[in-house]
Amino acid sequence: MRRVGYGAMQLAGPGVFGPPKDREAAVAVLREALASGVNHIDTSDFYGPHVTNQIIREALHPYADGLVIVTKVGAERGADGSWNAALEPEDIKRGVHDNLRNLGLDAIEIVNMRNMGDIHAPAEGSIAKQVEALAELQRQGLVRQIGLSNVTATQIKEAQGIAEIVCVQNHYNLIQRTDDALVDDLAAQGIAYVPFFPLGGFTPIQSSALSTIAQGLKATPMQVALAWLLHRAPNILLIPGTSSVTHLRENLQASQLKLPDNVLAELDTLAGAHPGH
Ligand SMILES: NC(=O)c1ccc[n+]([C@@H]2O[C@H](COP(=O)([O-])OP(=O)(O)OC[C@H]3O[C@@H](n4cnc5c(N)ncnc54)[C@H](OP(=O)(O)O)[C@@H]3O)[C@@H](O)[C@H]2O)c1
Repeated sequence: MRRVGYGAMQLAGPGVFGPPKDREAAVAVLREALASGVNHIDTSDFYGPHVTNQIIREALHPYADGLVIVTKVGAERGADGSWNAALEPEDIKRGVHDNLRNLGLDAIEIVNMRNMGDIHAPAEGSIAKQVEALAELQRQGLVRQIGLSNVTATQIKEAQGIAEIVCVQNHYNLIQRTDDALVDDLAAQGIAYVPFFPLGGFTPIQSSALSTIAQGLKATPMQVALAWLLHRAPNILLIPGTSSVTHLRENLQASQLKLPDNVLAELDTLAGAHPGH
C-alpha cells in the first residue's frame, strides 16, 4: 500500500451529513485520486450516512485490483446529524452489512472498530464484545482484516487477545501528539498507525511558524504537516481528506518533500500549540 491514501469523509454534505453540494466534483476527486496512484481509501457508512460510500461506488466500482478500502463501524447518525455510539454486537454486524451493500463489495479488506470514547479522544473500557463481533464476521469471510479506532494502548492489547489487529486510527498530527509513545510501540510491532485529522480536521492547522518553514521549503503548510507525519515513523499511513482536486494533488506531492534535521527539530517545537482560527 502507498503511504499517502485518501480520506473520504469530506465528500458528504456540510457536517458530514446529507449529500454534497456538487456530487460530480466529489466523483472527480475520487477518480483523480485513483488516477494519481492512490490505493488506500478510508471511509465509513456513517459519513452521510451512506452518502460517501454510495459516491465511492458510483465513482470507482468495479474497483481496481489492489485498491484497499478501509471502513469503520461503531457509530450511527441521528436524524439531526448527531453522532451516536452503535457498539452492541448487532450494531457492529449491521454496520458491516451496510458498508458491504453501499460499497458494492462481497468482503471488506479492513474494518476498524471505532470506539466512541470522548468523541475525538479515547476513554478506557472493554472493547471485547465489539472485537469478538468483528472476529466472527472475519470468520464468515465478510471482513478480511481488523483495525481499531479511537482506542488506548490497553484496549489494543485487549483486542489483540481476540484477533490480529493490523492498524490503529487515532487523532494525531503535528500539534496533537498525545499518541507519541503509542506510535512508536505500534511501529515496533509492525502495526500501521493511521492518524485521523492529519491536517487538523475541521479546523486545519494554522501556525505562523509552520507557514514560515513551508515558505523556506517552497511548499505549503499542509504539505509540511503531511511530510512531518511521514518522517515521524515508518508505520504511519496518511488519509488526508479533501473535497478539492487541487488540494488532493497538493497533498499527494507531500511524499516528495524531504525535511532536513533542523526543520524536523523546529517542527517538533510546535507540539501542543493551539490551532489558529
Ligand atoms: N476514525 C475517526 O474517528 C475519524 C475521525 C475523523 C476523520 N477520520 C478519517 O480521517 C480522514 C482525514 O480527516 P479529515 O478529512 O477530517 O481531516 P484532515 O485531513 O485533517 O483535514 C481536512 C480539512 O483540511 C482541508 N484541506 C485538505 N487538504 C488541504 C490543502 N492541501 N490545503 C488546504 N486545506 C486542505 C479540507 O478542506 P477542503 O475540502 O477544502 O480541501 C478539510 O477542511 C477523513 O477523511 C476520515 O476518513 C476518521
